Amino acid sequence: MNLAVLTGGGDCPGLNAAIRAVVRAGLKKGDRLFGILEGWSGLLSQKIIPLTLENTSGLLPMGGTILGGSRTNPLKVRGGIKRSLNFFHRRKFDALISIGGEGTLNIAAAFWKEGLPVVCVPKTIDNDTWGTDATIGFDTAVQIATEAIDRLHTTAESHNRVMIVEVMGRHVGWIATMAGIAGGADAILIPEEPFEMRELLRIIRARAKRKRRFSIIVMAEDAHIRLENGKMLKTPLKHDEYGTVKLGGISELLARELRRRTGSDVRVTILGHVQRGGSPTAFDRILATRLGVYAVDLVHEQRFGTMAVLRNNRMESILIADSAGKLKTVDPEISKVARVFFG
Ligand code: F6P
Repeated sequence: MNLAVLTGGGDCPGLNAAIRAVVRAGLKKGDRLFGILEGWSGLLSQKIIPLTLENTSGLLPMGGTILGGSRTNPLKVRGGIKRSLNFFHRRKFDALISIGGEGTLNIAAAFWKEGLPVVCVPKTIDNDTWGTDATIGFDTAVQIATEAIDRLHTTAESHNRVMIVEVMGRHVGWIATMAGIAGGADAILIPEEPFEMRELLRIIRARAKRKRRFSIIVMAEDAHIRLENGKMLKTPLKHDEYGTVKLGGISELLARELRRRTGSDVRVTILGHVQRGGSPTAFDRILATRLGVYAVDLVHEQRFGTMAVLRNNRMESILIADSAGKLKTVDPEISKVARVFFG
């Protein structure tokens, strides 16, 4: 088989481990492997490289993606689907393995409808892909955020400061919740459950009364805080060049409010892309390896239009169409556990 692989959207730790797994599993089955460069845009610009044992060795611990990534959406380019499909067939590819998050999945779903033999692999630090227990990159992001919270704890305590740590996650609060629990946050603010400003003030003041004059607030980049007048604290909506909502910076707004209302020394740390960089954790390396190998199995079983997923620690497949357009939000049972430690 001629098997093509691409990494769509933003990068994350574990992508290279997934590429390596696809290549190794494909080679074992006698396939010829090709990498499409820079996500879906590589199909349009016809940028491909052969993938071999040699050029994919040593990838397991490497962050980023050797194939490059982009948020280019061929569905938004005039004639984009047709041009991509023509190139795919001209190169005599038999299947595409698309490694990506929400955006990539939606594109794959549209291409599958147009007859592209595609199998998806879920990756995103946000962990918001519906249908899988975990996505590649999430565990590493939680680890990085937890380490940051641990470090902020000691300096917050030394200076009696309120520290707000803003983490990524787009429209869900998985990183904030898990890192917040692991790092012992005093409050965790996520998009799924608007946090009352009144409650946040109560937590900070109550801690101060108990001579715990520092507080650690972990905040997802799209968290909602409801003010006393019912309005939400919000940053103006921004978009990137691909029309995707650009988040980040809400913590500065919250810090200003908290300073004004409590008189506390409030400091902000926005973790940003640090959460997407560097070497993947052992969990992410193993997950990426299992998903990559399983995706090649799905291709050889001709189960196109599917995504390899992790469920109850087993590899399974689901239909792309069942996951595309849906978000996996934070499990309320886990949020309930986090709330026990607020204040
Ligand atoms: O989806 C992954 C993610 O890192 C989000 O958590 C974040 O909102 C977004 O991508 C940032 O995108 P960019 O790298 O394009 O700024």
